[in-house]
Amino acid sequence: MQQTSLINYQGQNVVVVGGTSGINLCIAIEFAKAGANVAVASRSQDKVDAAVAQLKQAHPEGLHFGVSFDVRDLAAVEQGFDNIAKAFGLIDVLVSGAAGNFPATAAKLSANGFKSVMDIDLLGSFQVLKTAYPLMRRPQGNIIQISAPQASIAMPMQAHVCAAKAGVDMLTRTLAIEWGCEGIRINSIVPGPISDTEGFNRLAPSEALQQQVANSVPLKRNGVGQDIANAALFLGSQYASYITGVVLPVDGGWSLGGASAAMTTLSDIAQKTGH
Ligand code: COA
Ligand code: NAP
Repeated sequence: MQQTSLINYQGQNVVVVGGTSGINLCIAIEFAKAGANVAVASRSQDKVDAAVAQLKQAHPEGLHFGVSFDVRDLAAVEQGFDNIAKAFGLIDVLVSGAAGNFPATAAKLSANGFKSVMDIDLLGSFQVLKTAYPLMRRPQGNIIQISAPQASIAMPMQAHVCAAKAGVDMLTRTLAIEWGCEGIRINSIVPGPISDTEGFNRLAPSEALQQQVANSVPLKRNGVGQDIANAALFLGSQYASYITGVVLPVDGGWSLGGASAAMTTLSDIAQKTGH
């Protein structure tokens, strides 16, 4: 195989939870192109099968693998990781990125709607990390959580996501302390608005709105999956061996001010038009 990445993951085992579409699938494919064996997991078996086919195309010599589970179901997560461990052995890099999002004002959001996002993003992440922890290679195994700007920037129509992703980043910081003595690193990546993704399409559901968001980014463009994958390849590697507990925005500078204003505008438009 001709390796296309600057960082070599040949022979390393990478697991991407929520790795069957969008940003996380892009991350999974870039790890495969860098030589890794990659396992992906999400709820839909069809999406898992399609993602594994793409991984095989990206790195035909790799051992790629898929399991389906819902991160809210601890027994299913444990079974899934058991299968991954049997196929792979120890995990070098775990990416935890399963998430759910929809725009809704707090006044119109049911308690169950709030709970469903908390259960996927926060409890689900905890269940994934806790289950994977004994399977991480020591001392250099490491974990990358996929967070969101909502973790630190208040955004209208996103109370559920803001609360859940803030918890995700605090898990990153807390576990960096608890697991650091075993050599296990854990960091969060905070993607900005990323084109051609379910998450961004749900919040800015037209080309005009997405262009409006791009204008609010200091680098004057929305991101692409490759931007996030590049950061993941760096954080997962030995080049980042002294970096843990970090929450890293990869957002063209959006979190410096544009994010809050842009989301308030989108919220105003959504409430006027119902979109
Ligand atoms: N506005 C308000 N409430 C909503 C909603 C919306 N657009 N979509 C779902 N909900 C509420 C439901 O009404 C329900 O609450 P209720 O029982 O009080 O009516 C609750 O959320 C759970 O909905 P349900 O469809 O049963 O959840 P699910 O577990 O099947 O799916 C979601 C979880 C809702 C997060 C779904 O959007 C999902 O699967 N998302 C994954 C993909 C995604 O969001 N990608 C972007 C990642 S950033
Ligand atoms: P996406 O394509 O919908 O990706 C979400 C992934 O998680 C899918 O593989 C989905 O597959 C899986 N998933 C969802 N619920 C799950 C559950 N309960 N159990 C197991 N897997 C589940 O969305 P995306 O927009 O690329 O977002 C990916 C990540 O980036 C998320 O963590 C999101 O918060 C973050 N992010 C995105 C943006 C953006 O602009 N898109 C910005 C900031 C942060 P199944 O449906 O098969 O379960």
